[in-house]
Amino acid sequence: MDKCDARTRLMYVLLFAFVFCGEQITADFEGGGGWGGDGGGGSDGGDGSHDVAVEAAATGHGSRKQRVHHHKRHLSRSSSVAAAAAVDYYPPGNALINELGNPENMFVTENGTVVTSQIGGTAILPCATAKLGTATVSWIRRIDYTILTIGTRSYSSDKRFYVDHTRHLKTWNLEITPVEATDAGLYECRIATHPTTSNFVHLKVTEARAEILGAPDLYIMSGSSLRLVCRLQGSTQAPLFVFWYHSERMINFDTDRGLIVHINSTESDLIMPYTNTSDSGNYTCQPQNIPPATIHVHVLQC
Ligand SMILES: *[C@@H]1O[C@H](CO)[C@@H](O)[C@H](O)[C@H]1NC(C)=O
Ligand SMILES: *[C@@H]1O[C@H](CO)[C@@H](O)[C@H](O)[C@H]1NC(C)=O
Ligand SMILES: *[C@@H]1O[C@H](CO)[C@@H](O)[C@H](O)[C@H]1NC(C)=O
Ligand SMILES: *[C@@H]1O[C@H](CO)[C@@H](O)[C@H](O)[C@H]1NC(C)=O
Repeated sequence: MDKCDARTRLMYVLLFAFVFCGEQITADFEGGGGWGGDGGGGSDGGDGSHDVAVEAAATGHGSRKQRVHHHKRHLSRSSSVAAAAAVDYYPPGNALINELGNPENMFVTENGTVVTSQIGGTAILPCATAKLGTATVSWIRRIDYTILTIGTRSYSSDKRFYVDHTRHLKTWNLEITPVEATDAGLYECRIATHPTTSNFVHLKVTEARAEILGAPDLYIMSGSSLRLVCRLQGSTQAPLFVFWYHSERMINFDTDRGLIVHINSTESDLIMPYTNTSDSGNYTCQPQNIPPATIHVHVLQC
C-alpha cells in the first residue's frame, strides 16, 4: 500500500464505497426473498397440507455425462415396459370394497400433500397404501388426465415419469426427473377398487438460481484477499458439488496457493488469501443442478 500514490488511494476508497453499497442492496434484496430449502421442503402451512422432502440426485445443468446416464436409465426402463405383455390390470372381483372397508383408510399418505421441487431436480410424489389387497395403483396427471403409470408400468411416452414401488412398504411413489416448469399441478394416485379411491398430490415447481454477492463487478487491491459468496436461491435439493471457474479454468483444487472452497446447501464460498493483477477476470460459480452465476473481479495494481 505504501507504493500507492494519493490518486490510487482515492480511487480505492471510492470503489470500496461503491462495492459496499452494492453488497448492501444485494443483502436487502435477499432478506426480502428468503432462501429456499435445505435439501428438505419447508412447511407449507395455511391449507393444512404438508410438504415432503425431495431427495435424490438431480440432473445437472452442467453435467452432460449425468444426463446421458439418466437417458440410458430411461431407455432400459422403457424397454422393460415394452417387454411386458399387455394384461388385464384391473382385478376381476368387485367385492373388494367390502373386504377393504372404509376407502379413506386405504392411503397412509395424507390426501392433498404438497411437494416442492426445483426445475432440473427430482420430484417424488408419495403414495403409500394400506390394505391394498389385489387392487392396482395408477397415477394420473390431472391437468390433461394422462395416465402416467399403471402398477409398476409407465404408460406415458414421456420417460421422465417412473413408479418407485417398494413392496413391503406398499409405496407407489411417482418419480419425475428431471422436473420441468410445466409439470406443476395436481396428480392423482388411484386405487382400482369399485368404485375407485384416490389421493391427490400437488406438485409445486421452483426455479433455483445462483447469485454471487457483489456482482456484476468487484474491485480489490493487488495483495489483498478475495472472498466470493455464491448464494443458492429457491433450491429444494443441495447440489452434489459446486465448481468455481476463473475464466475457463476450474480452480476448486488450486490448494497450492491457499485457495479454499466451502460448500453447503445454501451457499458456496471461495477464499483466495492473496491476489495479484493476474487474478483479474470473470469468476463463475457453477452448482451441479443450478444455472451458473458470474462476477467480474478487477484486481487493481497500486
Ligand atoms: C382426497 O380429496 C379429494 C378431494 O379433495 C376427494 O375427492 C378424495 O375422495 C379424497 N381421498 C380420500 C382417500 O379421502
Ligand atoms: C452455509 O455456510 C455459511 C458460511 O460458511 C453459513 O453462514 C451458513 O449458515 C451455512 N448454512 C448452512 C445451512 O449450513
Ligand atoms: C501472481 O500470482 C501467481 C500465483 O501466486 C504467480 O504465478 C504470478 O506470477 C503472479 N503474477 C504477478 C504479475 O505477480
Ligand atoms: C466477463 O463476462 C462478461 C459477460 O458475462 C463478458 O462480457 C466479458 O467479456 C467477460 N470478461 C472477461 C475478462 O472474460
